[in-house]
Amino acid sequence: MRWLITGGCGFIGINLIHRLLEHPASQIQVLDNLSVGTTEALASVAEYVEGETMQADARVTLTQGDILDVELVNKVCGSADVVVHLAANTGVHQSVMNPGLDCDINVVGTQNMLSAAHKAGCSRFVFASSGAPVGEVEPPIHEELAPHPVSPYGASKLAGEGYCSAYFRTYGLETVALRFGNIYGPRSAHKSSVVAKFITQMINGELLEVYGSGNQTRDFIYIEELVRAVEQAASVPGIGGEIFQIASNRETTVNELVDLLQEVAVGLGVAVPEVFYSDPRLGDVMRNYSDTSKARSRLGWSSSIDLRQGLQSTFEWFLQNRSQ
Ligand SMILES: NC(=O)c1ccc[n+]([C@@H]2O[C@H](COP(=O)([O-])OP(=O)(O)OC[C@H]3O[C@@H](n4cnc5c(N)ncnc54)[C@H](O)[C@@H]3O)[C@@H](O)[C@H]2O)c1
Repeated sequence: MRWLITGGCGFIGINLIHRLLEHPASQIQVLDNLSVGTTEALASVAEYVEGETMQADARVTLTQGDILDVELVNKVCGSADVVVHLAANTGVHQSVMNPGLDCDINVVGTQNMLSAAHKAGCSRFVFASSGAPVGEVEPPIHEELAPHPVSPYGASKLAGEGYCSAYFRTYGLETVALRFGNIYGPRSAHKSSVVAKFITQMINGELLEVYGSGNQTRDFIYIEELVRAVEQAASVPGIGGEIFQIASNRETTVNELVDLLQEVAVGLGVAVPEVFYSDPRLGDVMRNYSDTSKARSRLGWSSSIDLRQGLQSTFEWFLQNRSQ
């Protein structure tokens, strides 16, 4: 299978590439503007060459470029069977600071990718969405809830889901939108997400900063399980136009996460720093966890890795890769 992965030098991208290369028949093109991801991160999981089109004799080709460059996007989609669209403005906070930029990258950029995938006749388009489109509702979040995004990020991901639906229903492009929970795991050292941030602070002996009371909840999903969901979304028949919640089905408060990480840290001989509480952040929802029964029945996917076990593997990776 020939894959085009936008944002393939980022956290999810490099973990996905690492996994896909286990299949001898996969050939991968990455489109990334390197605004966040790095060539070093890509090189840590794959030997690659650079080029505008997928190079026949290479398993991984990196195209440095932007999803807002329509001409380039049309060129890169030409040789792909499946597009996994990960490139995005990824954070709630960044979207609150600059909603216009968030809209350009996440809405216009996604429309560009869909249009190019449709013109190229790609067989599947997997879109990285999030729980953020649903916004502040009584959890568990599921696919049938009316969306009320709180942040510009949630609004832009909702628009992306809308375009995926439209490209399936109008043009027949088989789109699948995956609403990821809070992903954590190896190769996330550049992320400002809560698990990566706390582990880095613990290793550096810095105070742990919790926004708000710490009673806000999230649904944490281990990267290996998420990558499996992407593979299923790319291949299971009859799911065009669908949305799936991809998370653990468990609600965890940030305070519980801190306790678990402290236990893991002590077990690994890392001194546990003090916690301090700062103001809640604009755009953050109070409670968030997902009902993943649709993913279980239609995608054949479910999560089984226990949070403590996933945190242990993640912490160990951070300790072994301190400088990355
Ligand atoms: N990590 C999570 O917890 C999480 C949760 C929900 C949804 N998501 C979504 O999953 C996707 C991937 O997230 P991630 O954690 O790997 O993020 P990341 O920031 O690590 O990776 C994103 C990659 O996209 C690239 N990129 C950004 N803008 C681009 C542009 N205009 N053109 C080309 N490349 C561009 C960056 O350089 C980076 O390599 C995003 O769409 C994100 O919104 C992530």
